[in-house]
Amino acid sequence: MPRRLFVTTALPYANGAFHIGHIMEYIQADIWVRFQRMQADADGPRIVHFVGADDAHGAPIMLAAEKAGQTPEEFIGAIQRARKQYLDGFHLEYDNWHSTHSPENSALSQDIFRRLKAKNLVYSKPVEQFYDPVKGMYLADRYLKGECPNCGAKDQYGDACENCSSVYGATALKNPYSTLSGAMPVLKTSDHYFFKLSDPECVAFLREWLQVPGRLQPQVVNKAWEWLDGEGDKALGDWDISRDPPYFGIRVPDIAEEKYLYVWLDAPIGYLASLKHYFESGKAKAKGESITFEEFLCAEDTEQIHFIGKDIIYFHTLFWPAMLKFAGAPYKAPDHVYVHGFIGVSGEKMSKSRGTGIDPLRYLELGMNPEWLRYYIAAKLNAAVEDVDFNPDDFIARVNSDLVGKYINIASRCAGFLTKKFGGKLVAVESSNALIREMQSAAKSIAEMYDSREFGKALRDVMALADKANSFVDQVKPWDLAKKAGGEAALQQACSDALQMFRLLTLYLKPILPKLAQDVERFFAIPALAWNDARNLLPAGHVIKPYQHLMTRVEEKQLGALFGIESVPQVTAPQRHAEKQHHAAKEQSVTEGTISIDDFNKLDLRVAKIVKAEHVEGADKLLKLTLDVGGTTRTVFAGIKAAYAPEALEGQLAVVVANLAPRKMKFGVSEGMVLAASGDGPGIFLISPGAGAGPGMRVK
Ligand code: 2FM
Ligand code: ZN
Repeated sequence: MPRRLFVTTALPYANGAFHIGHIMEYIQADIWVRFQRMQADADGPRIVHFVGADDAHGAPIMLAAEKAGQTPEEFIGAIQRARKQYLDGFHLEYDNWHSTHSPENSALSQDIFRRLKAKNLVYSKPVEQFYDPVKGMYLADRYLKGECPNCGAKDQYGDACENCSSVYGATALKNPYSTLSGAMPVLKTSDHYFFKLSDPECVAFLREWLQVPGRLQPQVVNKAWEWLDGEGDKALGDWDISRDPPYFGIRVPDIAEEKYLYVWLDAPIGYLASLKHYFESGKAKAKGESITFEEFLCAEDTEQIHFIGKDIIYFHTLFWPAMLKFAGAPYKAPDHVYVHGFIGVSGEKMSKSRGTGIDPLRYLELGMNPEWLRYYIAAKLNAAVEDVDFNPDDFIARVNSDLVGKYINIASRCAGFLTKKFGGKLVAVESSNALIREMQSAAKSIAEMYDSREFGKALRDVMALADKANSFVDQVKPWDLAKKAGGEAALQQACSDALQMFRLLTLYLKPILPKLAQDVERFFAIPALAWNDARNLLPAGHVIKPYQHLMTRVEEKQLGALFGIESVPQVTAPQRHAEKQHHAAKEQSVTEGTISIDDFNKLDLRVAKIVKAEHVEGADKLLKLTLDVGGTTRTVFAGIKAAYAPEALEGQLAVVVANLAPRKMKFGVSEGMVLAASGDGPGIFLISPGAGAGPGMRVK
């Protein structure tokens, strides 16, 4: 049966660099995709569309951008631009990398919302929530702290107490405060939209969807089943899918009021947005796809497959399939959701937010071979939802003993003799060589293991074959034959056979080691290896290129440097380039007494129009200014009374520090600072922008 595949990995939040957990998932999916791309179906090579994107919306990103003194667009743009070095660096062959903050995603998300609403699966109801009056925004639990209602411990989050472990709702906190402004939150009500997940039709659909054999891993089915079956306060509730402004997201369509779709609604739709962008930019066509995005999406034989981590099963096995199913064609519920565990370092769990352990960019900067990591991770992965442990000693052993010691060794022990003594020419495989036949016939079972994501098992089998190939070389002893008078024919035969074995092993390792496989293809002077090539062998008389070293061993000191234990060794020129980029992004080097451009960029300076200026009763230096900062107004108390009459200021432009934390003064809260010049003599002079500037413009 020909297969038509659409594969994705979970969309990373656009508020930080990739950590090793991301890279592990991408490597897993990339290996699977590359394996599929090596297959041929009745209608030709199998086409796989593999896409990713940044998950760019939501309050945390909005606030992170604000903190960085950037617009959300600037902020997510910088993050997105930094992705390429990782994707290229680890040979992750996505067809497209897009963003949920895109026209495609707005259109698709609003379309899906409308369709669900038309089916009466979306309704609105009032929700009472804490609201920060200083910040002017509703507060998710993570932005609320207060005293535990049970034990009285201070500074506890709005959902659970870290001291006594009791669980409660945010409104139960005593003396609550907003972690954003420190202000005391007030309860406020607004209408939210809900997706009716509890609808009997929806639940019935999910039960059926979950149970399709082979669709999900058994552990995942069980987990989702528990949620579906929950009773009492664990019963499946409807899903709150809207947020009030300020929010960085996609507008709820067809209403005058400003409301946004919750980030977790538009995030998975970002999978489709990236695919749409890829189709509509002509890239899919260039890859041999002949149909349109819509046609592809709803084609009977399209398999939609998501690789994700175990922390987001809930969203991908309940909301996401239900949303797609009830939105109707061309949308279609996913065919598979493949879940992996977390990656830890030497038994220590890695936190998503702290991202401790291995920094993937540092790995690359140190000049460590990305294929070592691909190989190591593949060796550790299976089809179960199990955590993976990165153990430095194990890493060294597997790379040096298995990958280099067993596999590469076969070629390095035999190729030289062929080049030196026989002009690189191979002879036909000896018909008595049963090992080569055994290797060829392993293609089927190894393929099954790759297809079912049992990469560890596949590698065990490949390495067992490599062991046998080495035993063969040990037995025929080319180095002895080379010294033996009249040993030429036997030498050429032995080395030819060993290299045929090496070619087959390379084919089986190619999904994991794509760059190395390419080097081997060049060495053999053959076209790109596809899976079916396991049926053939190189013909007699085929000439190989001179052997060049294919892979070095990993050194212990490199791992020391990776974990920050030892100093960083000298890097080579191409790596230095990557490093430069890294530092430019991460930490500007700053000479003493100066600030970096990053420091400067923290200032959010804006052009403001003074719409009102008033005397403040009881204050002899201050004027109260009401500023228009481009659509929003704010109050600032400025010490300029000695220099300006209030009426002279109204209508003038000034420059305001817009991201200064609000300051409570005797006369009220000041929400910023206007810039003014002063010298040793008398006089205060407001800084005003040149003609043509307008309220809200950024000053840089
Ligand atoms: O957990 C996360 O990192 C989310 N950004 C994953 C989103 S996956 C998909 F829904 F977009
Ligand atoms: Zn408590």
